[in-house]
Amino acid sequence: MTAVSVLGTGLMGSAMARHMAGQGLDVRAWNRTADKALALRPDGVHPAASVEEAVRGADAVITMVPTGDVVASLAARFLPAMPAEAVWLQMSTVGGAWTDRLLRLAADAGRRMLDAPVSGSSQPAEQGELVLIVSGASQVLERARPVLDVLGSHVAHVGTAGEASRVKVIVNSWMTASVVAMADTMLACEQLDLDPVHVLRVLEDGPLGMPYALQKAGEIRARAYPAGFPLSLALKDLGLLAEERDRPSRLSDTVREMVRRAVEAGHGREDVAAVAELLRRELL
Ligand SMILES: NC(=O)c1ccc[n+]([C@@H]2O[C@H](COP(=O)([O-])OP(=O)(O)OC[C@H]3O[C@@H](n4cnc5c(N)ncnc54)[C@H](OP(=O)(O)O)[C@@H]3O)[C@@H](O)[C@H]2O)c1
Repeated sequence: MTAVSVLGTGLMGSAMARHMAGQGLDVRAWNRTADKALALRPDGVHPAASVEEAVRGADAVITMVPTGDVVASLAARFLPAMPAEAVWLQMSTVGGAWTDRLLRLAADAGRRMLDAPVSGSSQPAEQGELVLIVSGASQVLERARPVLDVLGSHVAHVGTAGEASRVKVIVNSWMTASVVAMADTMLACEQLDLDPVHVLRVLEDGPLGMPYALQKAGEIRARAYPAGFPLSLALKDLGLLAEERDRPSRLSDTVREMVRRAVEAGHGREDVAAVAELLRRELL
């Protein structure tokens, strides 16, 4: 049986751990706040008391924590303890620069890391329908395949080093911009006293009907934003892309500024569609 360690059982890590255990993998989990890992026991996930204990005997180690500095601090502890033949799947969204540093940490410790951020939120994670963006050597990817195939509906192999993290932050920038555009569209309907259904039907009936943005239109109309992808994470990821661009992008900077203001207004834990509340205050 494939043994997988999950380090970080927040929104994403817990959903992934539950799904993998349900699919018959031997899953061990460690979390800084131990209660969250313990809560996964009824789902067949074995909680570990330490990072070192979690990775001992693992075939694959998944890191799923917020930022590159947190991943690096965990790596200093788990790299020496994980088996030399195991694969580290770095799935947190940390951007390209941090990924380059983490790849060096793995190489210096004689361990193999795949840059493997995921596209999709907690619901696809729960259902094994994430899109996995992966860069690294093909033979390492094939070694990790039994885990990747359980977690995702699609594996996109995009390069041999840190390309996947760069693809991920660009994809997230596009996604966030599309949600901001949908929020603006819904509020334009209100300003012009039009039923938004007319606009949404035209989108749905042609090639412009992006399912994700249409789903966000529903949340914006209901003014309810359960966290799928929280605004605070969207802000982090827009910052990671901005750091790597050699010149600033006016569109990205505008989107980032709106997201930053929505977070400051207290919407950070809500879904990215909650940016509509900021626009509402400005426009109506
Ligand atoms: N949510 C999404 O839709 C989504 C989708 C794709 C990718 N991602 C990426 O996946 C990663 C995790 O996201 P998430 O939504 O699962 O975040 P989350 O729910 O906030 O969970 C964060 C996890 O990291 C742990 N953590 C935070 N600071 C730590 C520290 N200093 N040391 C050790 N552990 C620490 C937390 O532990 P505690 O429980 O102790 O706080 C928790 O387990 C992020 O990089 C995010 O950008 C998220």
